[in-house]
Amino acid sequence: MGRVNATTPTGPAGPAGPTDPLAAFAALRTPEGAELLAGLRDHDPARELATATRLRRSHPADLVSAALGQARLRQRAVAKFGAEDAHRMFFTPNGVEQATRTSVATYRAERFARLGGVRSVADLCCGIGGDAIALARAGIRVLAVDRDPLTAEVARANAAALGLAGLIEVRCADVTEIDTSPYDAVFVDPARRGGRGRIFDPEAYSPPLSWATAAALKAPRAALKIAPGVPHEAIGPRAEAEWISDGGDVKEAVLWFGEGFAPGSFRATLLPSAATLVAAAPLPAPPVGPVARYLYEPDGAVIRAHLVADIVERCGGWLIDETIAYVTSETPYESPYTTAYEITDRLPFGMKKLKALLREREVGVLTVKKRGSAVEPEELRRRMKLRGPHSATVFLTRVAGAPTMLIGHPVGR
Ligand SMILES: C[S@@+](CC[C@H](N)C(=O)[O-])C[C@H]1O[C@@H](n2cnc3c(N)ncnc32)[C@H](O)[C@@H]1O
Repeated sequence: MGRVNATTPTGPAGPAGPTDPLAAFAALRTPEGAELLAGLRDHDPARELATATRLRRSHPADLVSAALGQARLRQRAVAKFGAEDAHRMFFTPNGVEQATRTSVATYRAERFARLGGVRSVADLCCGIGGDAIALARAGIRVLAVDRDPLTAEVARANAAALGLAGLIEVRCADVTEIDTSPYDAVFVDPARRGGRGRIFDPEAYSPPLSWATAAALKAPRAALKIAPGVPHEAIGPRAEAEWISDGGDVKEAVLWFGEGFAPGSFRATLLPSAATLVAAAPLPAPPVGPVARYLYEPDGAVIRAHLVADIVERCGGWLIDETIAYVTSETPYESPYTTAYEITDRLPFGMKKLKALLREREVGVLTVKKRGSAVEPEELRRRMKLRGPHSATVFLTRVAGAPTMLIGHPVGR
């Protein structure tokens, strides 16, 4: 048993030193730990030292530092899980970092649930349970597996804290030893971070993408979560690949296998609306031409899924440069997949010219967008010395290979 003991605290001035993480976590779930954590819900991290000193007068030092650490993680987790869940759940630093946010996990779980016939899922690499929770809330029974004992314990505590223990069985094991044959589907979210940070090579994921793909192909249906930047060549012809963004930020790519999915197709899905764009095969290269009256910035999921050509076709336009994902057209086009701008000025790149133009137009608020330019938006804004009642958007980009500035404003504003 580690130094923090659930029933016999070490006393107000408990000895300092390393603590068994499982024992420290168990202590947090005792009535005393729960009370401490509840009291830290809205605590100000800037006052952590003073708070720790005060709490150590009446609680064991190890428990106080575990509670403060957990309170910090809960505050970080609010962005992913929302305040209501985050303050009932438990986290590890890696667990909160790597967990799927609720919006994306729910979307994926519901896609599984809508298929019908998916009543149980083996969640291989469950972490602290982000996906397992969403699957259970979609009415699916889950076997949640993680080889890290503390992470598995935290996943178990989260299932209990959210009233989902009846649907989620957590097992601490290596996923390569799990028999997934009793389950209707498999979900794999390999660890993509190692001791040296983010891992880009899919074969260096734990477990490697080739293992995860083989596990997926053995199951009637499967989903693999991968990095959104994964090279398309790594995907293979048997998966439907989907890129998911939330609020305009690309969050992940997921490969779907089995009945009900479309192998070889590429999909972009935008949350929260769940608007979804799909192409059955790679699209031909779109035309390129001069900047017209309207400019469209496709959502990142559309770009990652290589579906910009689809937008070009829908709006009857063309690209401004064959290597840049800005689409242009003479007539306005409204779509959930792009943000539309009306372009008023086109200038060759140059700080002086831009400054003069913004002064003449009395622009006090400047949004800087860039694609194919190395200029730092903050630095540019600082050098413009903006003053005036108007706002504008500047695009720093390339048009037919030439560094160019396009000035305009969002359509409808
Ligand atoms: C990206 S996280 C999973 C996050 C999870 N989907 C969530 O939303 O909370 C990956 C997890 O895989 C676990 N893992 C890596 N290799 C494993 C293996 N061979 N067997 C079991 N778990 C493994 C790690 O411990 C880590 O918790």
